[in-house]
Amino acid sequence: MKINFFLLSVLFCVGLSCCVKAQSEKYNEAFRPQTHFSPKAHWINDPNGMVYYKGTYHLFFQYYPGDIVWGPMHWGHAESTDLIHWKELSVALFPDSLGYIFSGSAVVDANNTAGFGKNGKVPLVAIFTHHNPKGEKAGVNNFQNESLAYSLDDGKTWTKYNGNPVLHNPGIKDFRDPKVMWYSPEKKWVMTLATKDRITFYSSPNLKTWKKESEFGLNLGAHGGVWECPDLFPLKLKGQTHWVLIVNINPGGPNKGSATQYFIGQFNGQKFTPIDSKLRWLDYGPDEYAGVTWSNTGNRKIFLGWMSNWEYANKVPTKQWRNAMTIPRELSLKVVNNEITLASAPVKELNLITAKPREIANLNISKKLDLLPVLGNLSGQYILKLNGDVLKDFSLVFSNPKNEQLTLGYNSKNNQYYIDRIHSGLINFSDKFAGKYTAPRLAIGKQFDLTLIVDNASVELFADEGTTLMTCLYFSTQPYNQLKFQTEGQFLIKQLSVSTLKSIWQ
Ligand code: FRU
Repeated sequence: MKINFFLLSVLFCVGLSCCVKAQSEKYNEAFRPQTHFSPKAHWINDPNGMVYYKGTYHLFFQYYPGDIVWGPMHWGHAESTDLIHWKELSVALFPDSLGYIFSGSAVVDANNTAGFGKNGKVPLVAIFTHHNPKGEKAGVNNFQNESLAYSLDDGKTWTKYNGNPVLHNPGIKDFRDPKVMWYSPEKKWVMTLATKDRITFYSSPNLKTWKKESEFGLNLGAHGGVWECPDLFPLKLKGQTHWVLIVNINPGGPNKGSATQYFIGQFNGQKFTPIDSKLRWLDYGPDEYAGVTWSNTGNRKIFLGWMSNWEYANKVPTKQWRNAMTIPRELSLKVVNNEITLASAPVKELNLITAKPREIANLNISKKLDLLPVLGNLSGQYILKLNGDVLKDFSLVFSNPKNEQLTLGYNSKNNQYYIDRIHSGLINFSDKFAGKYTAPRLAIGKQFDLTLIVDNASVELFADEGTTLMTCLYFSTQPYNQLKFQTEGQFLIKQLSVSTLKSIWQ
């Protein structure tokens, strides 16, 4: 009798897990992003090791395959040929005796400088942080060290280097997230490493031996938290090369918790020299973090962030998986109000899933307009675009019959865009989630353009040619199927368009 009961429960569990699997494969659970990468199951955080090679974009990510909360870190793996449709592959790197596999980057070692290449096969090399939890527990300071792994089958399988770690910690508690690039003028590798409250640059001829070059940032930028996940790359503006140094910080972001700041300057192979001491944020919303760019994409610089915030990432109300990535964004430099500014745009590949827009020209709104009769049904995920010549106060209210609502708008008195998710739906899973978030409008002049990417549980705002960004999660218990535009007096939208986005999982 006992045995039968046992057998029954085993069968029941097997049946249940099959169901869960079959369901997850459809990527259709509540809150499941339909246009953003998320794992089939379990926990993810930072994007890692992003490298483009032989027509494939590799995306590795901080992954805990044992639960939907942060735990011993692995590198999960997904790949795409178009940055939009992703195929999740098996785990690339597992924790080992040196520790968990924390964040890092990957490069194409075309000249076989590290000697991992065999029979003419070009190695991909991952440079990551080994985080030793035992050392951390014991209270030593050198429990984070930098290590290597390589792949000789174009990223499918990975072998850890037996000489790990290659960069030993000099006694700095936060010593992590190496981003490595090839610095061609001196034919050497440069590592940009987050070292607690500053960036430390190292260089190497072969990825295995590293020499400290310089430090940056102790007295510059935001310092309300630990510096993490940096990136360094050149971008051209009117024929002139500028260097962008991305530094993620947690906490201490402009809207609390985690966020991405950046610096503009020059880099000479040894040292980064900023053009000024201005504080710049790449995304003001609460839910873009640990963002860095793909390696080996030539002149194109493509950025991807983790779409969450350490303030509540472990508690958001999903069950099968937890957390997702932002839409990949193409970066460029623009001059805004006499200052060099990093601008972001959704990658053009988003067109692959974008339906023909419904467009309305010269929509003159007096006080309040229900946009649904104008735009038609707004279910699922979509891109909403609006522009005009005169920006005034407005709010766009997304809501459902349960009176849950998310408001996105502009306040001219403060010259700020904002997103208010105080009544957006489920908020009680963390007392840090509900809030009204603001972002300064950097563009000058009244002309404006807004692009909103709306998915099941997120909205990304690209304002004024992508110079002000906000990424924000929400968890409404029913889809928002109403959309109202509110203003005072008259508001002229020159062009309004909406395009539905096809699910990337279909
Ligand atoms: C940033 C971060 C990194 C670290 C990783 C651990 O979100 O804290 O600094 O490598 O996550 O998962």
